[in-house]
Amino acid sequence: MTVHPTFTFAKSTAPKKGAAVFLVAKGGKPPAMAEEVDPSGVIAKAIDISKFDGKAKSVVDIVAPAGSPVDRILIVGIGDADAIKPSDWTALGGTVRAKTASEKNVSVLLECDGVDISPEAAADFAQGMLLRAYDFDKYKTVKKDGDEKDEKPSAQKVTLMSDKSSACKKAWQTAEGIARGIMLARDLVNEPANILGPVEFAARAEALSALGVEVEILTEKEMKKLGMGALLGVAQGSVRPPRLAVMHWKGGKAKDKPVAFIGKGVVFDTGGISIKPAGGMEDMKGDMGGAAAVTGLMHALAARKAKANVIGIIGLVENMPDGNAQRPGDIVTSMSGQTIEVINTDAEGRLVLCDALWYCKETYKPKFMINLATLTGAILIALGQNRAGMFANDDELADQLFEAGEVTGDRVWRMPMGPEYDKMIDSRFADMKNVGSRHAGSITAAQFLKRFVGDVPWSHLDIAGTAMASPASDTNQSWGSGYGVRLLDRLVADHYEG
Ligand code: BES
Ligand code: MN
Ligand code: ZN
Repeated sequence: MTVHPTFTFAKSTAPKKGAAVFLVAKGGKPPAMAEEVDPSGVIAKAIDISKFDGKAKSVVDIVAPAGSPVDRILIVGIGDADAIKPSDWTALGGTVRAKTASEKNVSVLLECDGVDISPEAAADFAQGMLLRAYDFDKYKTVKKDGDEKDEKPSAQKVTLMSDKSSACKKAWQTAEGIARGIMLARDLVNEPANILGPVEFAARAEALSALGVEVEILTEKEMKKLGMGALLGVAQGSVRPPRLAVMHWKGGKAKDKPVAFIGKGVVFDTGGISIKPAGGMEDMKGDMGGAAAVTGLMHALAARKAKANVIGIIGLVENMPDGNAQRPGDIVTSMSGQTIEVINTDAEGRLVLCDALWYCKETYKPKFMINLATLTGAILIALGQNRAGMFANDDELADQLFEAGEVTGDRVWRMPMGPEYDKMIDSRFADMKNVGSRHAGSITAAQFLKRFVGDVPWSHLDIAGTAMASPASDTNQSWGSGYGVRLLDRLVADHYEG
């Protein structure tokens, strides 16, 4: 049975029930407190027999001997003490959560021989536990064992013990806010398109107003007035009208220019008239992963009261074949005035983003713009599922993103751009066409977007490989990963606050 964790930070005292977890670094030994739950010296024996050496995420799982106040004792390796990154702490928390998923009471001693565990590290550990516990099971009416699902999931009480418990508590407020943002992004990606259309997605964005985010929703009529012909061309094949949601978090000084994040929110991508093959098409409910990441990020920033001014803009449309759908060969005029020949109606994400980017640049004059989009299948061919493709017109922003990726585990890899790629999307009839040749598909998509950002520092993250259909990991077992929330939260925290 899955039980949902809640976290308490407390001073260190010997655990009295449930599972007791002790951390050991490479070459280290269990903390003295472990002796208090181990009247018969079983820990030393188990460590010896299992040849446990503190390797990261290795676990010795012991049934507590008679006379111990607890039921289980877990000795968990944290690896090389001087090489531990934030993403290692979340992975470790995930590992511990997986081992203790059915326990009602878990006590973790966040003090360790030879390692000073900071409050931030402790909070990252708890974040990993929480993220690992995430399960999108709202549409299951029966449990895996065939029983009816409980009305209320039972609670797991996790006590995290540290001599810095009040600083940990504070760090947890931040880390939990980020985790809630990640889980919001996962929820949005996992939700099927019949439930989450453009209007429903916009309502989910609007709900962030409860956290102090100012939200404005543009309707079709307003977008028409603004001349967003590219976005509207995609939307015209669907009976469900498009929306553009603008989320504004004002946590910085009034005079500070905002930073801006823009997301592709295609709630379902059939390909339109250039229709996709049937096999695997159900995955295209996740074609709003960019918009989900931006929404989750805004949640995270607001929840942790980030000292920055941040704009989040998401273009919400559905790409459908229909009697009124746009055709290959159609020429649309974007809000920028530039015209686009639509060669392939399945290259719709760039058409949505180009108007959202231009609108953002003109309306908010941001310090930078970063867009996220499940934009091309080609990025999966190039980079697989472990890194997003990063394109940028600004080296400093690219370096900051790369660094934030290495630290958080939401990793990116920079891809090339240049005039030789740009000319591949010149059109015979219009200013540009929406696809190049079969070659360099992710790059020509990026070149297309670049034509709509002017001289604003900009980066495009192609998250087609990282946002959905995610491989199971220490901190995520769900189809939607919430990729990008942690990355961009970190970017803001490290370079654009205060
Ligand atoms: N949403 C898709 C890209 C995608 C593919 C996302 C696989 C996630 C997993 C995008 O709109 C698309 O259809 N792109 C085309 C572009 C092509 C027509 C130039 C593609 O990648 O095939
Ligand atoms: Mn498409
Ligand atoms: Zn798409």
